[in-house]
Amino acid sequence: MNQHFLGFGLGLRTDHFQEVIDTQPAVDWFEIISENFMVAGGKPTYYLHKIREQYPMVMHGVSLSIGSTDPLNLDYLKKLKVLINEVKPAWVSDHLCWTGVNHVNSHDLLPLPYTQAAIDHVASRIQQVQEFLGRQILIENVSSYLSYQDSEMPEWVFYQEVAKQADCYMLLDINNIYVSARNHGFSATDYLNYIDPQHVRQFHLAGHTDYGDYVIDTHDHAICDPVWSLYQAALHRFGAVSTMIERDDHIPPLTELLDELAIAKRIANGALNLGTTKEMPTSEQITTVKALYG
Ligand SMILES: [Fe+2]
Repeated sequence: MNQHFLGFGLGLRTDHFQEVIDTQPAVDWFEIISENFMVAGGKPTYYLHKIREQYPMVMHGVSLSIGSTDPLNLDYLKKLKVLINEVKPAWVSDHLCWTGVNHVNSHDLLPLPYTQAAIDHVASRIQQVQEFLGRQILIENVSSYLSYQDSEMPEWVFYQEVAKQADCYMLLDINNIYVSARNHGFSATDYLNYIDPQHVRQFHLAGHTDYGDYVIDTHDHAICDPVWSLYQAALHRFGAVSTMIERDDHIPPLTELLDELAIAKRIANGALNLGTTKEMPTSEQITTVKALYG
């Protein structure tokens, strides 16, 4: 069993703060966006602490810009470390991308050229971040809409090499793999089959907008059938991996997201014979992991 299996979680969103406290929904854990809680005090911090008392959490960042050629933002890293000490998350993640250069922030998660030079650059920066934070981090694959003529290898080879060289973990976004596979015309299955299971610690699931010729990773729709199928394939390859649903726009009622999470559980049960094979954790084991992470 993957000893870091937290079960099935949701992205914690402002719209649901009070309802989560009042109703204590059957969610195994929550993922927070780190940047939303980097100010001391205030309402978000109040809710964060209340909800953290009841649920394990992981932290997910969008501003690390690990692929940029700008120096690492030490001020950001210090704030991140303060939040880590407060939240005590099971783990901390960010994206395999760059968000700006020359101190200009594009507010987009931009893909990197898939070259050996970029692997060396990013891996060394991840190592510096891990050293500063005193822990290994997870790096997530982004969706992309462009490619570079200079790329020397497919995205999945690049991603795997970065994780290996940096000695970090992977947050595999199943929807992002689907979106990029559609946009660039590669095989999502080839992607999954190349990735070494020992690096994978979390899955993201999300919805997107399909424009026919291309797909945009909007996180404002329910998860579609091809992404559920890819999730099933990922479960067969990687086993029990902590799974969560990301919804960032058109936030629906919490019950709707809980229904989606129930589908994820059902698919995992079917793919992994939950409770009937030794591969899947028992609820007792999940409780042990939860105890480990508070
Ligand atoms: Fe994601």
